Amino acid sequence: MNTRYIIGNWKMNPISAAKAKEIFRSIKRDASTLKKSVVGICPPAIYFEHLRAVGTGKKVLLGIQNIHWEKEGSHTGEISAAMAKDLGAAYCIVGHSERRYEFGEDNAEAERKVKAALKAGLSPILCVGERDRDEDGSHFAFIEEEITTGLGGVAKKDLKNVLLAYEPVWAIGAKDAMNPRKLQEMSIFIRRVLADRFGKAEADAVPVLYGGSVNPTNTKGIMEEGRVDGLLIGRASREPQKMKKIMRIVEEI
Ligand code: PGA
Repeated sequence: MNTRYIIGNWKMNPISAAKAKEIFRSIKRDASTLKKSVVGICPPAIYFEHLRAVGTGKKVLLGIQNIHWEKEGSHTGEISAAMAKDLGAAYCIVGHSERRYEFGEDNAEAERKVKAALKAGLSPILCVGERDRDEDGSHFAFIEEEITTGLGGVAKKDLKNVLLAYEPVWAIGAKDAMNPRKLQEMSIFIRRVLADRFGKAEADAVPVLYGGSVNPTNTKGIMEEGRVDGLLIGRASREPQKMKKIMRIVEEI
């Protein structure tokens, strides 16, 4: 197995920089012994400097939750990939479902952001995921479209810097994650879509993550039976005790 990724998306939380630092400090301490995994914390961008002051390193990196595709200019309220890179970001979440459905982002916009991230030297984490499922399996075509358009402008040589997160929208903020057997079906499908577009060797090197109600109890099944290389974690990533358990489980697989 390649490197395992434990990415935390804090979304618009926590409410203060002091709390953000406290959570980050704990996670950083527990991550210091990781051998097979890396942790990427994506806080609200306004906390970047505070967390940097706590200290990042090889085991704990920072990521930004969203970027604008331009490098600079008149885009009130926006942050560019180059700015995030300058402040020490390594990752950039692109196309999270909350951005797609709350702010109307589409696949074309995701593509622009993926390209901008790569250009700035950030690793984009492209999020894909269906809102619901029906009996005829149309979610597979939906995911394929999200991947092929989102990665449309990515050159084969740049694919090694891309991470893909499969996050079924119905499993985000839910009681439990999706069934690992069903996830396995989807992770195989995702690899096939990537292989068709970029070639098998390149596709196999892309870390495929799962996101949606990950917790210490379902981590093992998701990673092993679900056949993914890592996790994109929302709520549990702000709870140091849960993160500690998840890290330990991922390391032991
Ligand atoms: P959750 O969020 O772990 O709280 O379900 C996941 C996500 O939105 O990435």
